[in-house]
Amino acid sequence: MGREFASAAARWMHLLEMPVRPEIIAVCDANPDLMTWFSSNFSSVTQTSTDYKALLENPQVDAIYCAVPHNLHAQLYVDIIRAGKHLLGEKPFGIDAAANALILEAINANPQVTVRCSSEFPFFPAAQKIIQLAQSGKFGRILEVEAGFWHSSDLDPNKPINWKRMIAVNGEYGVMGDLGFHVVHVPARVGWIPRDVRAVLSNIVTTRPDGKGNTVPCETWDNAHLLTSVALEDLRYGEYEFPMMLSMKRIAPGEANTWFIRVMGTEFSAEFSTKRPKTLRTLPYTAGQPQAWHEQDIGFETVYPTITGGIFEFGFTDAIQQMWAAFCDEAAGNTPRFQCATPMETALSHQLFTAALESQRSSSVVKLEPAPLGSSE
Ligand SMILES: NC(=O)c1ccc[n+]([C@@H]2O[C@H](COP(=O)([O-])OP(=O)(O)OC[C@H]3O[C@@H](n4cnc5c(N)ncnc54)[C@H](O)[C@@H]3O)[C@@H](O)[C@H]2O)c1
Repeated sequence: MGREFASAAARWMHLLEMPVRPEIIAVCDANPDLMTWFSSNFSSVTQTSTDYKALLENPQVDAIYCAVPHNLHAQLYVDIIRAGKHLLGEKPFGIDAAANALILEAINANPQVTVRCSSEFPFFPAAQKIIQLAQSGKFGRILEVEAGFWHSSDLDPNKPINWKRMIAVNGEYGVMGDLGFHVVHVPARVGWIPRDVRAVLSNIVTTRPDGKGNTVPCETWDNAHLLTSVALEDLRYGEYEFPMMLSMKRIAPGEANTWFIRVMGTEFSAEFSTKRPKTLRTLPYTAGQPQAWHEQDIGFETVYPTITGGIFEFGFTDAIQQMWAAFCDEAAGNTPRFQCATPMETALSHQLFTAALESQRSSSVVKLEPAPLGSSE
């Protein structure tokens, strides 16, 4: 992920009207072999280190993008924040709820730094349209929401184990810790906060090769289905509840990296999937009139304007660059055109995933506490 971000910085000229430009000046990885790629591609790099604390002591470093295994999030994020550097951290923003709370505490104590969580899919143009539809009340009374993030490579039982399949490094959340925040982010942003959850978590492949000739336990949840209920208060419809199904899967046959959201409402329905990255499907409805899905090519209508013409396709690397543009814009003191995921949104996801683990253990519906309020947005 570090290289993805550096690559987005290298083509910053792609963005138009940007008031701020990141310069990659310092790089850290525990593996020194990874430095060569950075130092050979970026003449701006003046510091490389295997110790992140060296970067924190560098007064030239204003902001840090930090992508490390989940067991290191709390320690590194807290140290970065306390050093006064702006931080774009990776999800799940702490290996568990306790680690997430430590990070939020450090943010509250250091309000001068901008801290956001990496979550790029809402920057897809069609996802932006769905967010705007939700915020404008266009759907009418919401009937149901389904959102998911699905991978398939773990269908192969011979795929060697890595840290994302180890509880000690990835966390007990399993697939929820790895893919879950991507699914929760848009619902959280538009105010669809689960009030309870019934989770069915599946550990399908329980052992894997370790790449050294041995077979080792594969401990983490592969797939997670979370059936939640959301309560809304609406001027037109009063207080009502609707079901929201959130799924994260490492074993979804045929799905390489599919992020999707589908919203059904009494007046309007809409859906978007990264499988068809430029297509927004919508169904407007007026009482008694025909019901027909419409497909619109949204193309390259980005949050931050770019040199690319509106008819072309948007992709993963573009989403990373748009997200980073929003982060840099905000860290420079401006109001971003779309705010990156906030620490409070990550706190909501931790509350949900912790409740989901409890639901799986007890085979029951688990209620969530009302959203915690604090100054860390
Ligand atoms: N936003 C996204 O789309 C996305 C995609 C993949 C991963 N991620 C997140 O990014 C983070 C990293 O995942 P990844 O897939 O890049 O993992 P990775 O294993 O490919 O990379 C992690 C890197 O951290 C380094 N590292 C480990 N300990 C370190 C330490 N103490 N100091 C400095 N460096 C250290 C490792 O050497 C490794 O190069 C995770 O939080 C993951 O959830 C996000």
